[in-house]
Amino acid sequence: APRILSGMQPTSDSLHLGNYLGALVNWVTLQDEFDAYYFVADLHALTVPTDPAVLRARTRATAAQFIAGGVDPERSAVFCQSHITEHAELGWVMNCLTADGEARRMTQFKDKTAKGQNANVGLLTYPMLMAADILMYDAAFVPVGEDQRQHLEITRDLATRFNTRFGEALVVPEPYIVKGAAKIQDLQEPTAKMSKTGSSPKGLIDLMQDPAKIAKNIRSAVTDTDAEIRYDVDTKPGVSNLLVIHSILSGTPVPELEAAFAGRGYGDLKKEVADVVVAAVEPFQARMRELLDDPAELDRILASGAERARVVARATMERVRDRVGLLPSA
Ligand code: TYM
Repeated sequence: APRILSGMQPTSDSLHLGNYLGALVNWVTLQDEFDAYYFVADLHALTVPTDPAVLRARTRATAAQFIAGGVDPERSAVFCQSHITEHAELGWVMNCLTADGEARRMTQFKDKTAKGQNANVGLLTYPMLMAADILMYDAAFVPVGEDQRQHLEITRDLATRFNTRFGEALVVPEPYIVKGAAKIQDLQEPTAKMSKTGSSPKGLIDLMQDPAKIAKNIRSAVTDTDAEIRYDVDTKPGVSNLLVIHSILSGTPVPELEAAFAGRGYGDLKKEVADVVVAAVEPFQARMRELLDDPAELDRILASGAERARVVARATMERVRDRVGLLPSA
């Protein structure tokens, strides 16, 4: 089967609904069809200064959430980026193929530095490491949310550049961005994406949050002043966001939801969305408790995922070293 790959940063104790609906739900579906590699991007998380013990706990929790969300580690390789040292190595090669101005023009770097985040060089070269993650595994598709599109584009550019300069050696990947699910918005500020760093506590739905709190946040989601339940991202971003969340979790197409809610009020919509989200979150949390109860089993899963990943990574790095002119080591 063709290979797919994706990753998430361990930047908090809990994934949020955007991570879940924008990415993880698709990971689970795609593992039936593809040879899937899913990893915790712990090296990328080092771009934000974090207490080491906290990073360790979040890395385990993130891996556990992949599994609680339905990734099957028997089928898909689940691993930590840092366990495969080839990522940093190929990242270096990617750095050396990237122009300084090209890196500085990336919107994520510009946004984060504009917000005054202390910009270490890791933040600047973040996309090159991400390109390395993807190109390492000859990934045909990369299932991510809309916010990662630019990173996928530079990955494609770097792969093409490498192949042009050194001869065909890297697979140029396609993004796999599911329409509709690609961007879950902040509940309080529905024109901005739901995000760990940008959203207020009331705008965010964490998968590990108390279900009563989740329901409360959904009931106080910002909507608009007319009363029609209709999907229109431009004029009704809040209502549209709620419809999308409902649709993905209930498997009901948005037009059917619009018909079902015709003539009803926003209160009804919010209540149903809250029910649908809580129904998804409760079994997820139960599975998480089991997984976190047995850290040895989780570490075993990560070790066996790394073993699988390492076989592919070694082969790619050998090819890359040879192409660029590094001497083979004895
Ligand atoms: P990260 O950790 O920020 O997010 C993980 C995944 O969740 C998606 N996502 C969203 N989707 C819809 N709506 C939202 N509000 C929302 N917020 C986040 C993201 O698009 C992503 O798919 N750079 C990556 C991690 C990474 C990676 C990779 C991904 C490192 N190397 C290689 C794929 C392939 C990131 O920071 O994702």
